[in-house]
Amino acid sequence: MSTALDTLARPISLGKLDLSSRFVMAPMTRKRSPGGVPTAENAAYYRRRAEHGIGLIITEGALIGHPSASHEDDVPRLTPGPAEEGWRLVVGEVHAAGGRIAAQIWHLGGERRPAGTAWTPDTIKGNGFDQLLRAYAESARTAVRAGFDAVEIHAAHGYLLDEFLWPRTNHRTDRYGGSPKERAAFPADVIRAVRENIPAEMPLIVRFSQFKERDYAARIADTPGELGDILASFAEAGADVLHASQRRFWEPAFDGDPANLAGWAKRLTGLPTITVGSVGLDRDRLADLATQDYDLVALGRVLLAHPDWVELARAGRGVRYRKTDEDTYF
Ligand SMILES: Cc1cc2nc3c(=O)[nH]c(=O)nc-3n(C[C@H](O)[C@H](O)[C@H](O)COP(=O)(O)O)c2cc1C
Repeated sequence: MSTALDTLARPISLGKLDLSSRFVMAPMTRKRSPGGVPTAENAAYYRRRAEHGIGLIITEGALIGHPSASHEDDVPRLTPGPAEEGWRLVVGEVHAAGGRIAAQIWHLGGERRPAGTAWTPDTIKGNGFDQLLRAYAESARTAVRAGFDAVEIHAAHGYLLDEFLWPRTNHRTDRYGGSPKERAAFPADVIRAVRENIPAEMPLIVRFSQFKERDYAARIADTPGELGDILASFAEAGADVLHASQRRFWEPAFDGDPANLAGWAKRLTGLPTITVGSVGLDRDRLADLATQDYDLVALGRVLLAHPDWVELARAGRGVRYRKTDEDTYF
């Protein structure tokens, strides 16, 4: 039906990684990994999406091996041992279905943390930074050993790395706070640490956003120039792909220009980008997919409701997502 959907169904390569389509499964926390270990149920869940036209799956956020990353026990870890074995199972199922899969690496920072226990830009001290960089590096090595095709660093939505980017949660006066470039310095150190611990040809995706889960109107960059400074730091540190998270993909990122956040990221850095945000939730807006500039498109909630959404939408079948109690986002 829609030309944009047909274009997106064509293969694409990210460096040496060949993808069967430009449809990406957006990372979505499921809290179904007891003790932080992904199970056969998780593997079957991801496989079902790989079987139905998704070129790249990005896993739910997987935690680095540092006690400050999260207090939740059923969120998967990306650490050596049982969690690594669980992920190997997931990767194996996705590969068996012809899919490709990236691990999303996550630290919650001050978001959804009990008061007083959180590690945030304003509370991290001394060798805390080294501890975190070591844990990110270990997760990157774990992802490689488990067989992942790519990794994504979660630097969006108000979690730790995004808290560095947002002036309201970063009051540091050392090299990790101040101008947009200085606020991007620790996220860039993390990107460098991950880059050094994965093969040179493995795509490294960085996910960023203006909005926060706790504040939809928040911004890390008030102007394209500020965004350019932040994204240049990411690119210089080794990011290959930028995943520009928006709640609605058709909304302009800045006044006076129709380009969305992915369009700006592409324009400012020349890197391939992933757009996302309410695709398929409002069918009339599917036509807008053809008007924005991006390389891949991520689908979130529609894939929870319909693992085969891509096939249904391309066949012109109207499918709609309905909010459930589980849906705490957006
Ligand atoms: C249940 C749920 C869990 C999510 N978990 C994550 C996550 O772990 N990491 C992340 O970067 N985004 C997460 N998101 C955001 C999605 O990746 C996506 O950006 C968002 O749902 C918007 O896309 P959609 O409108 O297609 O659903 C989550 C969203 C939902 C609905």
